[in-house]
Amino acid sequence: MNTNTVTITDNRNNKSYEFDIVDATRGPSVVDISSFYSDTGMFTYDNGFTSTANCISEITFIDGFKGELRYRGMDIEKLASNHSYLETCYLLLNSKLPSKKELVEFDLELRHRSLLHESLRHLFQAFPAGAHPMATLSSTTAALSTFYYDHLEISNEDGYQEMARRIIAKMPTIAAFAYRHSIGAPFIHPDIDRSFSENFLYMLRAYPGGKMHVGPDGEYSIKEIEVKALDTIFTLHADHEQNASTTTVRGVASTGAHPYVAISAGISALWGRAHGGANESVIQQLEMIGSVENVDAFIARAKDPNDEFRLMGFGHRVYKNFDPRAKVLKGLQDQLKDELNLDSNLMRIANRIEEIALSDEYFISRKLYPNIDFYSGVILTALDIPKSMFTPVFVIGRTVGWITQWIEFKKDTKTKIARPRQLYMGQ
Ligand code: CMC
Repeated sequence: MNTNTVTITDNRNNKSYEFDIVDATRGPSVVDISSFYSDTGMFTYDNGFTSTANCISEITFIDGFKGELRYRGMDIEKLASNHSYLETCYLLLNSKLPSKKELVEFDLELRHRSLLHESLRHLFQAFPAGAHPMATLSSTTAALSTFYYDHLEISNEDGYQEMARRIIAKMPTIAAFAYRHSIGAPFIHPDIDRSFSENFLYMLRAYPGGKMHVGPDGEYSIKEIEVKALDTIFTLHADHEQNASTTTVRGVASTGAHPYVAISAGISALWGRAHGGANESVIQQLEMIGSVENVDAFIARAKDPNDEFRLMGFGHRVYKNFDPRAKVLKGLQDQLKDELNLDSNLMRIANRIEEIALSDEYFISRKLYPNIDFYSGVILTALDIPKSMFTPVFVIGRTVGWITQWIEFKKDTKTKIARPRQLYMGQ
């Protein structure tokens, strides 16, 4: 008798149905309920997919109770401290870290692909002054599919890699252009001599002609520690298995649409405050709280079931322990304290919130810990990155994850169009 099954009994008529259990290499097993409807005539209902796996994946693993995150089996804390963002991208796309030669080639290819088609550049003029960079970023990424239409039909490894490298390389340029357009500043093209992460800071900060801001003591160059901090932030955001935006990307992939419109949909899904938009909201909230003395009142509001106010940067669907990415960023924040101009008032407020929340029954009983977005804002502010660009920074880091998940979806011959059912309660 096969015991690797689950039996479900319909107590209305005592009929039993058996479903196979499929074991995972790490983490929870799943019950294969794909025949549930044809067997029982009923659907399953799982609001917010809290118990539903929607794919089989080999990319990223999270153990939310242990606070563990792995890309292709590699622990995130080790990756973030010993490897660069580009090595991480290579790992996600190729299931192995690059050799020195492979890394140099990968880096050079991305540098060469970072330029935008001149016609695409003109698209930015269509957006109103003051447009939020996330809206511009999502629209421009969708428009990229008109320039690389042939990616619609890719079916071999070289094609997948070219398509992936192209979008990863161009995303920082699109994001920087979106920002510069939003403030009416002239675009700065990527500099082939600069690394991936340095180039992004350069495109945000430079003056026409490639000069940086000039002060009484001369030109301010981009500091190595700033590049390292941003690179670490990109690494920590690179993938996060089946979150809302990745599920959106897979959903669009399932219809056979172009990969870049799937990424555009992912960007739109990420923008919301419950997901990637939280990083911008955390800083807005810390500024609104204003001083340590006001923290208690806001904590009380967060706990009040009749108040919609939530502590941004707290809680997570999967982590029921410290988010390991938050742990790395907290460490980074402490390292940067002496070298960069971290806003001490914001840090004091953030530290007080963390202190109270980690010892308060409301947060303890609901297992609400600070997440990655709680710490990234203070660091991004110290890197002189404006608030409206916090979520675009998340997009730049996450593009590799989305595109890796898109490729995995396409290579899986058993995937189907995403088409959930409903519990109809209307007339
Ligand atoms: N502040 C106060 N209470 C909270 C918070 C919060 N930030 N988050 C959850 N709760 C409470 C919630 O009210 C509920 O309480 P009760 O059981 O009494 O009704 C309980 O905790 C469970 O919350 P939930 O909304 O059912 O949990 P979820 O898994 O559906 O939502 C979440 C996860 C991240 C959307 C939510 O925790 C939240 O809104 N957090 C703030 C936004 C945020 O920081 N988002 C970034 C997530 S990390 C970046 C990323 O990967 O996207």
